[in-house]
Amino acid sequence: MANIIKNIKAWMPLLKLGNTVSRKNELEEYSRFLVLNNLKKANIIDYLTKPRALYDLINQFNWEYPSKYVDDFLKLLVNDKVLNLKYGRYSLNKGVVIEKPNVKFIEDFNDVFEVYSTGIPNRLKGKFFDYTGRLALFNWDSVLAGQIYQALRDSAWNFIDTKKINNVHLLDIGCGPGYETADFWVRFQGRNTKITALDYDENLLTIAKEEFCQNISRFGYKETTWDQLDNPPVFIHGSADNMTMLEDNKFDMIYFSNFLHWLDKPIKGVKEMFRVLKPGGFIFGSQGTTEVTNPYLDITARVVEGITGYFSKKQFNKWFIEAGFTEIKSATMVNTFKAKKPIK
Ligand SMILES: C[S@@+](CC[C@H](N)C(=O)[O-])C[C@H]1O[C@@H](n2cnc3c(N)ncnc32)[C@H](O)[C@@H]1O
Repeated sequence: MANIIKNIKAWMPLLKLGNTVSRKNELEEYSRFLVLNNLKKANIIDYLTKPRALYDLINQFNWEYPSKYVDDFLKLLVNDKVLNLKYGRYSLNKGVVIEKPNVKFIEDFNDVFEVYSTGIPNRLKGKFFDYTGRLALFNWDSVLAGQIYQALRDSAWNFIDTKKINNVHLLDIGCGPGYETADFWVRFQGRNTKITALDYDENLLTIAKEEFCQNISRFGYKETTWDQLDNPPVFIHGSADNMTMLEDNKFDMIYFSNFLHWLDKPIKGVKEMFRVLKPGGFIFGSQGTTEVTNPYLDITARVVEGITGYFSKKQFNKWFIEAGFTEIKSATMVNTFKAKKPIK
């Protein structure tokens, strides 16, 4: 019964965003349009009106090859019947229409993918999009402060037993510009908690610290300065798959949201999180998986330097089991999850 209630509570913040299925469909349709439109702009669509071998595409557009990205990209277009593959040649399916869909729910999140999708022709050449560079950072700022990420945090928070949170040390992994750190810091007031927040991007950590006071005021904390803060978070630089600066069994709780698809070998990160968690401690958060993250979004996200790509929920659970976690539970379509490090 308690589990059913927790499940419902995890769903509630997401349901507030509106009809989750139609939003998912809209995002899917829109991301497909963005990918195809950028191929059109790069003349790849026109070139494919005649059958072309992979070799022709590589030569014509200077694609980097061998490349898993190119393989996955072509596979996606064939699976989606954008391209036909016959006798080793790709050609555009005549029925393909590239028209901006009438998406009602455009918001910051879609803007980010609009920016990222422009990087696809370059990504096929082996050139990445710098995550903290140019527009992307600005856009991500508003995404992380926006209603989707807020719903993800609320969902994760609702899924755990918050009454028991007292005298704890939380590790916030992939804290980025620090919205979630600020959000949790405010939630933790009066609970005698400590927060350590880690990211591998030093620029983001600088922003996280500089904007921390502004961010906590967004979450209802009084206006203050960093020097006046009682027990501010500690921002540390490092990679989650190799946290050598953190000793074993250090934290009571670990949180991350939509971060694991950045790692080259996610299992290494999950094992590291297990190592730094105290026995009896728990990990929670949300992690999109291929069940909800459509392949067009995946191919778009992978233009960003560092992003490896999404995986299935089954794979996610397998990594957690392999690392030693128990009581692995998940709720909602965005995989709001929690798991425990057993005491023995
Ligand atoms: C989707 S963002 C999440 C941002 C943040 N959690 C929030 O909600 O405000 C993912 C973050 O993971 C960070 N990241 C990527 N690879 C990492 C790694 N190996 N170790 C630590 N952080 C990493 C990125 O720099 C980025 O800030």
